[in-house]
Amino acid sequence: MKILITGGSGYIGSHTCVELLNAGYEIVVVDNFLNSKAESMNRVRRITGKDFKYYEADLLNKDALDVIFSENNISAVIHFAGLKAVGESNNFPLKYYQNNVTGTINLCEIMKKYGVKKLVFSSSATVYGSTNQVPIKEETILGAENPYGRTKLMIEEILRDLYHSDQSWSIALLRYFNPIGAHESGLIGEDPKGIPNNLMPYIAQVAVGRLSSLSVYGNDYPTLDGTGIRDYIHVVDLAIGHLRALEKVQCIHGINAYNLGTGIGYSVLEMVKAFEKASGISIPYVMKDRRPGDVAICFADVTKARIQLGWKASRGIEAMCRDIWRWQKNNPNGYNEELEIQHSDK
Ligand code: NAD
Ligand code: WQD
Repeated sequence: MKILITGGSGYIGSHTCVELLNAGYEIVVVDNFLNSKAESMNRVRRITGKDFKYYEADLLNKDALDVIFSENNISAVIHFAGLKAVGESNNFPLKYYQNNVTGTINLCEIMKKYGVKKLVFSSSATVYGSTNQVPIKEETILGAENPYGRTKLMIEEILRDLYHSDQSWSIALLRYFNPIGAHESGLIGEDPKGIPNNLMPYIAQVAVGRLSSLSVYGNDYPTLDGTGIRDYIHVVDLAIGHLRALEKVQCIHGINAYNLGTGIGYSVLEMVKAFEKASGISIPYVMKDRRPGDVAICFADVTKARIQLGWKASRGIEAMCRDIWRWQKNNPNGYNEELEIQHSDK
């Protein structure tokens, strides 16, 4: 019996593939490589010493999904595939609704056709919108602030309706806080296309010389140093959370949402300092206005995942920063080797 990983070539998916293979699961990956490189699949093989099949296919292509299910004895699905850039979703909302929402509906239809009813879904803390009640519990009223966030919210609702129509489904909605870090091998990590939108990949690219300085968005928040506070979680801890969720959906029916974070918040400046300490490189930064849509403070109440999944993050910001730096230093241009050659020729 195999676990299908949609979006398995991406940042969180590739780390989850490693943990699943190391735990003895057989996996099969589907990805259209829209936001990732097939090289990450080679690296997963290198880290684990295990082989697996991957399909280059789009979730919008139901026939391709049907082939994957017909060729593999799939018992459960971990569904990462989706577009995730908040800014881009404001400019191209239809693309986001189609890719994320229609892609998920297609996947569920094919799962239903093949009688596969165990699903772990990548949701996001973005479904809590602009709540200022921290720590954030799963019961907090939901309300997303942008098209990307609304795709996650809609998918959660679609999956709830699906479960209510057929209670033999088992679904875990995993609401990630701020995933950062990389595998400790330095072989896989986050490889954003273009200029990074997120804090830590941006800092890492400043450190490696691809960007000149960090813009800190806002220093007048009601926090100790005035900069925004987030709950950063090591991607390997997050990946392990998927194993616990997979075990859960394999033994109970139902639909449950779980926060995956550390429960601890750090400010932008604290993260800059932690990265400088881990890398030995100073990160120049300039203070800028607040970024529209940002909240001051966001961190998780992780009690539910601890009690119901038996999961708790164990890696701190030192390990997160050390592992980001190892990945970025060893792969200054991410998985893009051609760029790497141009870079070293300069
Ligand atoms: P990622 O972009 O690195 O990985 C997503 C993968 O899905 C990519 O490899 C992409 O090529 C693939 N994909 C996208 N649309 C597809 C489609 N229609 N068919 C097949 N493959 C498709 O992103 P990630 O950071 O690994 O995030 C994984 C999931 O977690 C996403 O659903 C994202 O919304 C969610 N999430 C991410 C974060 C974060 O900060 N990284 C936070 C919360 C939630
Ligand atoms: C963190 C902090 C910024 C960049 C986003 C998505 C969310 C989820 C996770 C998918 C904030 C500050 C950032 C920079 C900065 N993704 N910052 N300079 O906004 O908490 O969450 O990723 O579901 O939906 O919105 O993460 O890393 O962008 O920002 O000062 O260049 O860093 O203002 O305080 P965010 P982030």
